Amino acid sequence: MSTPLIGIVVSTSRPGRIGPKVARWVSELAPYGVRAEVVDLAAIDLPFLADRAMPAQGEYDLPSTLAWSEKVGGFDGLILTVAEYNGGYPAVLKNALDTLHAEWAGMPVGVVGYGWGGAAAATGALATVLDRLRTVRLDGPGLRFGEDLSPEGDVLDAAPEDAVRGLYDQVLAAARESAALPV
Ligand SMILES: Cc1cc2nc3c(=O)[nH]c(=O)nc-3n(C[C@H](O)[C@H](O)[C@H](O)COP(=O)(O)O)c2cc1C
Repeated sequence: MSTPLIGIVVSTSRPGRIGPKVARWVSELAPYGVRAEVVDLAAIDLPFLADRAMPAQGEYDLPSTLAWSEKVGGFDGLILTVAEYNGGYPAVLKNALDTLHAEWAGMPVGVVGYGWGGAAAATGALATVLDRLRTVRLDGPGLRFGEDLSPEGDVLDAAPEDAVRGLYDQVLAAARESAALPV
């Protein structure tokens, strides 16, 4: 039986960000027998849409797009950790989504927000985009500063570990349904 591989995406790129800490916490909650790989969009470092063809044509000429496509295609599912910026989600995440197209259709995508209000505005806005891209969107918890998370990114005792474990279960179930993953 092949080991399911879930990508845990860091959606922010600014210096001093806490996104990697949130993603590491999520990755550490992966169930036994599942591999979780943190994918940092700062390291993926995509230019703003710079391929000659439209993403929907799937004719990528930039090495960075080809590498991103291959990376996404290697995952059985994703969990996005999503910061809230001015009531939306980070532009680096939108660009990473817009850069590809066919890769998203049918991809199980879980969402874990973090912000003062659990990033509800950010994840709400993101839902529209994930649905348009025809992902299998799976809404997870929103971590709240002061309750679940310190502003420095330390995960607190109240953080909803069980909800994240439940999200993994949903992502894996969707992956099994949509692809050749064994039960
Ligand atoms: C440009 C900017 C806008 C922000 N806007 C919001 C916001 O609308 N709601 C919120 O809860 N937090 C907001 N914050 C606080 C972020 O949630 C917090 O800084 C978080 O750590 C951002 O994720 P990051 O550290 O991975 O970049 C904002 C932060 C930045 C940098």
